[in-house]
Amino acid sequence: MNRPYIICHMVTSIDGKVTGDFLFGKGCALATDVYYRINRRLKADGFICGRVTMEGSFTGGYYPDLSKYPTVSHGAEAKADFIPKKEDMSNFYAVAFDTNGRLGWQSARIIDPDGDIGYDGAQIIEVLSEDVDGRYLGYLQAMGIPYIFAGEKAIDVNTALSKLKSIFGCDTLLLEGGSIINGAFQRAGAVDELSLVTAPTVAGENSSPLFYHSDIMDFELKSAETEDGVLILRYTRKSL
Ligand SMILES: NC(=O)c1ccc[n+]([C@@H]2O[C@H](COP(=O)([O-])OP(=O)(O)OC[C@H]3O[C@@H](n4cnc5c(N)ncnc54)[C@H](OP(=O)(O)O)[C@@H]3O)[C@@H](O)[C@H]2O)c1
Repeated sequence: MNRPYIICHMVTSIDGKVTGDFLFGKGCALATDVYYRINRRLKADGFICGRVTMEGSFTGGYYPDLSKYPTVSHGAEAKADFIPKKEDMSNFYAVAFDTNGRLGWQSARIIDPDGDIGYDGAQIIEVLSEDVDGRYLGYLQAMGIPYIFAGEKAIDVNTALSKLKSIFGCDTLLLEGGSIINGAFQRAGAVDELSLVTAPTVAGENSSPLFYHSDIMDFELKSAETEDGVLILRYTRKSL
């Protein structure tokens, strides 16, 4: 496979939703603990999230003053990916799908206030479209944050994944939401396995499903277990 194996690892409600207030309610607390435990057990090379999830979980809406950074030219050369030396990066990756460079990072590695080893210290990689302010590239370079281009106006999932494999050597990555980025991966045929931790709760209004705008796709049940009263389902993609 010329891309990493993708395991979509998510907390879901009984009714298959993955976003919204239910995630922060009492009914979801145990499922969240179990989710983090499994996260570590899956032993992937890193995790992928959409821009909205990265903002909510890690950057908190911070954005740098781009006027302080040089523009990395938008000529032919501008489309070159930026890859710091291997020895300057950690080998567990936090991959941000950030079409227009809207995420403001304050360090090149994830700082998780909970010190969760599932995330803390992960090397950030920005996946961008070419529709990005050249000064944002200057900012990423100054921060030592690697970036790769994967499309002109939008990010092509398979282009991004093949670069994550060939440049960073990622063999397995966790896809950890939210709904919109999961949907883009599912429609691109880039979800190989599901790891669903089902909280015993029903989501409220304005919650989105596991895959936003999904296509029909069959999976095979690999295991069904419980841990602390929480259901954990593993599915693999049915071979085509
Ligand atoms: N249940 C769980 O286990 C779990 C896990 C993680 C997150 N969440 C929840 O998920 C919520 C956010 O989910 P969300 O669905 O709103 O957003 P999301 O999937 O986190 O992020 C979507 C964004 O990703 C960017 N993106 C980059 N490439 C893309 C592509 N090829 N296709 C589509 N989008 C692409 C776009 O950013 P631009 O708009 O900048 O173009 C898009 O708006 C959070 O509030 C969090 O609570 C739940």
